[in-house]
Amino acid sequence: MITSKELRNKWIKFYEDRGHVNIGAVSLIGDGQTGVMFNVAGMQPLMPYLLGKKHPKGTRLCNVQGCVRTVDIDSVGDATHFTFFEMMGNWSLGDYFKKEKTKWSFELLTEVFGFDKDKICSTVFEGNESAPRDEETASYLKELGIKEENIFYLDKSNNWWELEGTVGTPCGPDNEWFYPRHDNKCCDTCDVNCDCGRYVEIGNDVYMQYKKLEGGKYTELENKNVDTGFGLDRLLLFLNGLTDGYKTDLFIGAINYLEKVSGKSYDDDKNAQKAMRIIADHTRTAVMLIGDVNGITPSNTGAGYILRRLLRRAIRYTKNLNIDSTEMLGVAKVFIDTVYDEAYPLLTEKKDYILDEITKEIKKFEATLASGIKEFDKCITGIERKNEFMSAKDPNYVKETVISGKQAFRLYDTFGFPLELTVELANEKGLTVDEDGFNQAFKEHQEKSKAQAAAAKGGLTERTEVTTNYHTATHIMLAGLRKMFGTKTEQKGSNITEQRMRFDFNCDHKMTDEELKYLEDFVNDVIAKKIDVVCNELAYSKAVANGAYGVFNAESDDQLVTVYTIGDVDMQICGGPHAKNTGDLGKFKIQKEESSSSGIRRIKAVLIND
Ligand code: ALA
Repeated sequence: MITSKELRNKWIKFYEDRGHVNIGAVSLIGDGQTGVMFNVAGMQPLMPYLLGKKHPKGTRLCNVQGCVRTVDIDSVGDATHFTFFEMMGNWSLGDYFKKEKTKWSFELLTEVFGFDKDKICSTVFEGNESAPRDEETASYLKELGIKEENIFYLDKSNNWWELEGTVGTPCGPDNEWFYPRHDNKCCDTCDVNCDCGRYVEIGNDVYMQYKKLEGGKYTELENKNVDTGFGLDRLLLFLNGLTDGYKTDLFIGAINYLEKVSGKSYDDDKNAQKAMRIIADHTRTAVMLIGDVNGITPSNTGAGYILRRLLRRAIRYTKNLNIDSTEMLGVAKVFIDTVYDEAYPLLTEKKDYILDEITKEIKKFEATLASGIKEFDKCITGIERKNEFMSAKDPNYVKETVISGKQAFRLYDTFGFPLELTVELANEKGLTVDEDGFNQAFKEHQEKSKAQAAAAKGGLTERTEVTTNYHTATHIMLAGLRKMFGTKTEQKGSNITEQRMRFDFNCDHKMTDEELKYLEDFVNDVIAKKIDVVCNELAYSKAVANGAYGVFNAESDDQLVTVYTIGDVDMQICGGPHAKNTGDLGKFKIQKEESSSSGIRRIKAVLIND
């Protein structure tokens, strides 16, 4: 048995012994500069240094970094998907390269973790037009004693690491480490490529020597860096011979707590198991996000929306366990007090605040659910009355037993009732739900709101080239404001004419001359860079996960939204239209900054074209 606390310490000690400095973890919340909402990889905070900037702590670094990935949120509930995880990392910033790195990863696996060198498998990049076949890494692996038959050359889809959807970020070929769970081959050709699940990826050494450019091109970096990531949660599972992530010490306390308060068994009751996993995972991530140094609270936009969604999904699943939703507080306490007390001491400091924020969200959502239940009961009474009335009139009348798709959709749309909750409640009453009808209503609604969004066109009344340019300028200006004042800054109003733009935003003080100058320079700098404004259409939840923001209340996670991206400057959900390139805008000049109402400032600005 190895505990999560021991594993973190072993990782750090191993690399400290080899000259690395532990740089600790940074906030889980994106800094608003990279345009990414959460920290999704251990290397993310190191991006500028991997691109060549000098790091104050030197050229050999290590840490254990928390990450939040919510794109897979709907898969949480199985044994291996989580929305929060910790990445154990180490880096060479232009220091050592493949020879040392292969040696150290090998030593760590064999000497510290006791892996059998004859069973270790390693995959390297087979090469393509961007980077050569990685014979060098393969030769070091062989020298270390890894069997030739256990070294595999794979293509870009397997052995190349980059942050998808980004430009200007470091990337490169990687060397991945695999180990079998057991020796029983599922077939003659069972190896790392087999999807029977025998082999587990233990970690990943990325040789980051390229920078990703527009249009899928790469350019060589001056520095040859190493970026290593070993997932703590995954390795912990593996080292303890487990296959269910909720059985490690990271989760077992939360699961035991939920078993105790629900009286249900995690192992024997599959429905309860799924609910316990979702409640535990989502509560953990919520604790981390609220308790972060740049902690956030539930809201209807951006990161706050993701947090709200996590908490509400967990609350819903407390119903499946038949427990009070405030039991989530007990789960939160397990994480704060016993699991992450060492690695995240800030959680202990912010404990009351975290519990308070969760309580507030529980109360809010319970109130919505309560009005939904009332609505549901009305619906049932309606069906029952009709059945009674009709049966009295006609003894052969076939009683209605189905809740219509329209009714189910109304419960979903107005009262936040997920379809499965309506189905569950209906089943309890011996009724069913017209699920096809629900999907149909859902689709119709989606199309209607898409059409509405197109009609609104970002609130612009007259759509000329000039007003379009002003609209793009408001995006850049808001990006500058957020850079200065933080991502809590939002658009509170905008009015554009052929002559000027007027823009309102939340801000607690009159802007200083320096701030105004910074903002003006920021916008003009983006204009001077002639950046393309790129338009994409994608599902709301995806857009938000990618880091898009905007004052926008989605009807559902799947609702299609339009996202405008200006390089790495800005990514907003917006109906458009926009200029094609920031170079089209002319010179930006602020004319006035004044109060609009309490806590809201107003800027008037013009675009000057000579
Ligand atoms: N950045 C690499 C990863 O996340 C190490 O796997």
